[in-house]
Amino acid sequence: MPHPTVGTHGRLIAGLTGLLLAMGLPVLPGHAGMSAEELMVDPIEEGMTEEERQARREAIERERQAAEERRREREAAERAEREAREAELAARPYPVRLTERRCMECHDAGDFDREARTWPGWAFTVWRMRLAYGAELESGEWRVITDHLAETHGAPASKAAATWTLLALTPILIAALLWYLMRGRRQR
Ligand code: HEC
Repeated sequence: MPHPTVGTHGRLIAGLTGLLLAMGLPVLPGHAGMSAEELMVDPIEEGMTEEERQARREAIERERQAAEERRREREAAERAEREAREAELAARPYPVRLTERRCMECHDAGDFDREARTWPGWAFTVWRMRLAYGAELESGEWRVITDHLAETHGAPASKAAATWTLLALTPILIAALLWYLMRGRRQR
């Protein structure tokens, strides 16, 4: 036999809740969201005496209150967990949060896990993201992010040394190339 008291009631409320949600209205918490399954008590049945009905009604009411209490406790636990998680996220160091805010709009956390770059390598990447894809950075933020990524996703020392050497040599190489080209022109 279906649950006439709770079942119809529950369905009606579920329907109304759905309608409110569909209209974008906030749904107030209350016993409204409680389903028949949550009320673990038998419904009022036909053929019951008035005393039996009364007793059943009281049992239903007690169970409803108990279910509401369970729901409140569950919500409090969920809220505490959520707040703890938010506090934990907010307590992370500024460079971590900044990198997340500026880069994770397009990337997923963990995207850079396998990256190992030198400081200039990360600086180049950050600027490339900025110029090519419009990653929004306020002045100086590129440096905070670069420092942070170079520290947490740095290249091995040998690669870093090679990069810095190459960077240091670049002006000399360019000068040498220019000198070579000019000399070639003068001789022609
Ligand atoms: C507006 C979107 C966007 C933002 C914001 C963004 N990126 Fe990217 N990023 C991309 C796209 C698209 C690619 C893939 C195409 C490519 O590599 O050019 C990419 C590729 C990358 C790569 C791998 C390719 C490479 O350069 O070797 C890295 C590393 C990277 N992004 C780092 C960052 C960092 C660090 C930030 C934060 C400063 C950032 N991204 C912010 C869009 C974005």
